[in-house]
Amino acid sequence: MGVFFDNSKALLYCDNDVLSAVNLFMKRLLPISWWLAVALLAAPLSAQKPLAALPAMGWNSWNHFAGRVTDAEVRSAADQLVSTGMRDAGYIYVNLDDTWQGQRDSQGVLHPNARFPDMKSLADYVHSKGLKFGIYSSPGAKTCGGYAGSLDHETQDAGMYARWGVDYLKYDLCSFADNMRAARQQHPEDPMAEFTLMISAYRKMGAALKATGRPILYSLCEYGIDEPWKFGPGVDAQMWRTTDDINDTYARMMEIAYNQVGLEKYAGPGHWNDPDMLEIGNGGMSYDEYKTHMTLWVLLAAPLLAGNDLNTMSAADKGLLTNREAIAIDQDALGKQAARVWQRGDFSLWSKPLTGGRTAFGLINNSWQTRNIPLDLNQIGFQQGAAVHDVWADKDLGRWSAIKVIQIPKHGAALYVLSNP
Ligand code: GLA
Repeated sequence: MGVFFDNSKALLYCDNDVLSAVNLFMKRLLPISWWLAVALLAAPLSAQKPLAALPAMGWNSWNHFAGRVTDAEVRSAADQLVSTGMRDAGYIYVNLDDTWQGQRDSQGVLHPNARFPDMKSLADYVHSKGLKFGIYSSPGAKTCGGYAGSLDHETQDAGMYARWGVDYLKYDLCSFADNMRAARQQHPEDPMAEFTLMISAYRKMGAALKATGRPILYSLCEYGIDEPWKFGPGVDAQMWRTTDDINDTYARMMEIAYNQVGLEKYAGPGHWNDPDMLEIGNGGMSYDEYKTHMTLWVLLAAPLLAGNDLNTMSAADKGLLTNREAIAIDQDALGKQAARVWQRGDFSLWSKPLTGGRTAFGLINNSWQTRNIPLDLNQIGFQQGAAVHDVWADKDLGRWSAIKVIQIPKHGAALYVLSNP
């Protein structure tokens, strides 16, 4: 314990009894009390482990089921996450999106509609599978689907979510845009009136969720309009949509991916950019296009929320969604989002730093033909060459020191992890 102070001089002036008591304290009790203090300090620190230390992974009902979703489908998604191995690959959130809401009663309590007879029992079911349960609302009076939002009921709704056992809330701007327009009309002198009102609405729910004492991941959805990557952390959110909705087309998926360029500095443990949910398995893209979708999303450290019908998932789509190494890139503890190193005409190179001095690279062929794309490791910081691992082929390619030409099919992608052992 000499690191703290030197006790030798103090001991010179003490009689023997006092000396031995002091000695006992210094030798026996002080070390114990020191460790006790460390333990007491460490306990609250571990309890404060941030939500979403890694990008959230799970399934969401919207992309496939939209407004048709029922209790049975959510339970079935939970079952399938387990039986397909997706839960064990990391997909742990089962998120019920819009259209679960019924009416508020005279006390203001919002009841689910007839498709969700007992939300607590649904949450319990999801939990019984070793999964977490997510739900959806809006700061406005209405959700995007026209169902009841949380306006003026934030604390009440947050408390109800906590009692149900909700672990995740997607909070979607929707009709709150009407309130923002009204604020602008009421305060023509204030150019920030709409923005200020929106921030206060998101902050209100963030505070209400926190006040429940239950760790509920808070996911903002305002389509990236007001740069939520800048205000999200300040309203206690852990992730925020950076774009308007994805759809199941290659064009839209690529447009969203390209719009992520420059946002990499806003991503990190506990705060993630969300380029929207996955469309893999919904049938609108080819296998190579879905591979590109997964490649880009894992490089972007995006939340991975599958949006397909897990009951009818093909082996190929399951292979893309559960590829262990691709997921490890997304979930790398460094928490870096890839930057686009270059875009040359219709192909691009993306790079994501990983733990252990490794780097993940994605080559994307946006053209309409198979292309031979040269990859020069010199240009991407590996002057001495590097050991190369092909993620999609699950193959070590040995050490590369020169320029390699990589063949990539139309709308396809290659994903590599480079290291210098
Ligand atoms: C918005 C969101 C979607 C989905 C729908 C539900 O469009 O961006 O992700 O939640 O609302 O109505």
